[in-house]
Amino acid sequence: MSHTVIVAYDGSAGASRALEWAADDAARQGVALRIVHVLAPWPYDISKYAVPGGPEAYAEGAGRMLAEAEQTARELRPGLEVSSALLDGQPAKVLREQSGPDTTLVLGSRGLGGFTGALVGSVSTHVATHAHGPVVVVRPHEGVTRNEIVVGVDGSPECEPALGFALEQARLRGATVRAIHAWQLPVHAYAPEVTFDMDELVRSRQRLVAEKLAAWREKYPEVTLIEQTPCVHPANALIDASSTAELVVVGSRGMGALGSLVLGSVSRAVLHHAHCPVAVVRS
Ligand SMILES: Nc1ncnc2c1ncn2[C@@H]1O[C@H](COP(=O)(O)OP(=O)(O)O)[C@@H](O)[C@H]1O
Ligand SMILES: [Mg+2]
Repeated sequence: MSHTVIVAYDGSAGASRALEWAADDAARQGVALRIVHVLAPWPYDISKYAVPGGPEAYAEGAGRMLAEAEQTARELRPGLEVSSALLDGQPAKVLREQSGPDTTLVLGSRGLGGFTGALVGSVSTHVATHAHGPVVVVRPHEGVTRNEIVVGVDGSPECEPALGFALEQARLRGATVRAIHAWQLPVHAYAPEVTFDMDELVRSRQRLVAEKLAAWREKYPEVTLIEQTPCVHPANALIDASSTAELVVVGSRGMGALGSLVLGSVSRAVLHHAHCPVAVVRS
């Protein structure tokens, strides 16, 4: 699957959780771990706040922090190939540039600063929205977890890479995959007399998911794959399922017509409200 696992590290409790997650993941995949910190430029280039030692003191501190993080990763996973890098620039932008199809980029849901009411920090949100490859945003598990990975499935081709990511993670962890395709009745305020054959609708949804998953079942015969097609809002279905899962995987959505890569509304809701780590996987 991926050839490197990169963790974005800022020394915060959130980033420490991300570091643990990333070290475990790299070890399971048998690939190297790279720990990256981005030193942001001085705000507005103003250095008039006389900082003892100047910017150099920050760079030195960051270097020490990275050395300690490397040490922590090696202690967690002896034998893991670990390196670190101190980069300059706007953290969100520089980290996004680190992402790619052959990389899993791991961040904490929260970092050092910011607004305490935010569920996910601005750097993580930006990177998950605009990355060029899979991004995992790690948050603490709440409640009891099963050895299960939840993945959201819709009718679009964008969810194929998400399915691939979920199945590969499940294979590495010996976990079950719960593939959820949630759907809702079309609501037209102006045509309340239109009724639906619910049985037929349910069957057609089940067929759609079964067809989508057939090739993946063949590719991963060792992984138990459960299909679910609840008639609820997809964000609710995935967020509920995340409360007992190890990881929830969603596709991003490319708004091709606008030429911009943004996150679909379900993915965004899951990123902010899930009860476990979230992987956003871009096609
Ligand atoms: N300067 C940085 N260098 C490397 N990683 C960072 C940096 N800033 C944030 N991160 C990553 O992003 C995560 C979330 O931080 P952020 O979005 O900045 O939230 P907050 O607003 O709470 O600070 C962190 O846990 C860390 O993984
Ligand atoms: Mg921050």
